[in-house]
Amino acid sequence: MNILGIETSCDETAAAICSDGKILSNVVSSQLIHSEFGGVVPELASREHERLINLVVEESIQRSSINLENINLISVTNGPGLSGALLTGVCFAKGLGLGLGIPVIPINHLEAHIFSNFLAEPNLSYPFVCLLVSGGHTQLWHIKGYEEYELLGETRDDAAGEAFDKGARIFGLKYPGGPEIEKHAKGGNPEAHYFPRGLIDKKSLEFSFSGLKTSLLYFMDTFEETSLIKKRDIIASYQQAIVDTLVEKMERAILMTNVKTCVIAGGVAANKCLRNKLKNSIKDIETIFPDISYCNDNAAMIAFLGEKKSKIIRKDSLGFIIKPNLKLK
Ligand code: KG4
Ligand code: ZN
Repeated sequence: MNILGIETSCDETAAAICSDGKILSNVVSSQLIHSEFGGVVPELASREHERLINLVVEESIQRSSINLENINLISVTNGPGLSGALLTGVCFAKGLGLGLGIPVIPINHLEAHIFSNFLAEPNLSYPFVCLLVSGGHTQLWHIKGYEEYELLGETRDDAAGEAFDKGARIFGLKYPGGPEIEKHAKGGNPEAHYFPRGLIDKKSLEFSFSGLKTSLLYFMDTFEETSLIKKRDIIASYQQAIVDTLVEKMERAILMTNVKTCVIAGGVAANKCLRNKLKNSIKDIETIFPDISYCNDNAAMIAFLGEKKSKIIRKDSLGFIIKPNLKLK
């Protein structure tokens, strides 16, 4: 079975082909246009998706060496995400599906992020805990089985990705902030300054990152580089505060659920400081990290989950709609 996956929920226009569980192509066009605005401008994102979607889909088909006529099904993200951005992908998918006479199925972006771990480890077995960390979400999930998901905790305010993006803006770095902060933290001393770790003392599995951002804002008001403390030390300390919080809560979730495996997902899961700290802190159970190319928004995860879902859901309706606030549970 050959599946075309389409992803346009935010600022990545992406298409991929999955065939019997294998990713044959994975094309992502990241919209650089938002960089100068310090965040995603929804209207611009929709226009960029509309400009790029056919090119990206064509390239994914070309790179897969499969002919258009041999695609059996299209899976497309219908939420959560920006409404205009989701609309471009969903309308394109429905049009193409009608034209080719093949089914089109909707995919939950969050579920697809979690399932990207099966691309890293096809033998991944239930139950496991997933730390889902992206630009819009910071959640801990107990994945007990297929479609048996329990939300253990989530952020009360900003997502971890937002903390990276807003922090980067304060540091005068570009959007998206995560990779920028990771780059500029290199060689810095993560213990140079202690930033608050939100809700760290609380037993709950909730997160909070808004206080951290405010604390950075005030700190940078008066900060001046000296021979003893450089800006990169502060950037490294800020990154460490986010990572420490995520790892602490992940450890607690593992204890609470008693699982033998934990995984990570979403754009922030690409962060090497997070990966290293998780590897060093969680020794007794299996840790699985998706390939970096499957952490940031991509359509490989949409095609892969599409193939799994195609075996169990109705495929004869184009009646589904976009759901910008779609939840996993
Ligand atoms: O999953 P994703 O691509 O899009 C959403 O579904 O939101 O996540 C994007 C978020 C952004 O906030 C970005 O700054 C962050 O992931 N991110 C990172 C890294 N790469 C992307 N954060 C920390 N370190 C990274 N290397
Ligand atoms: Zn995402």
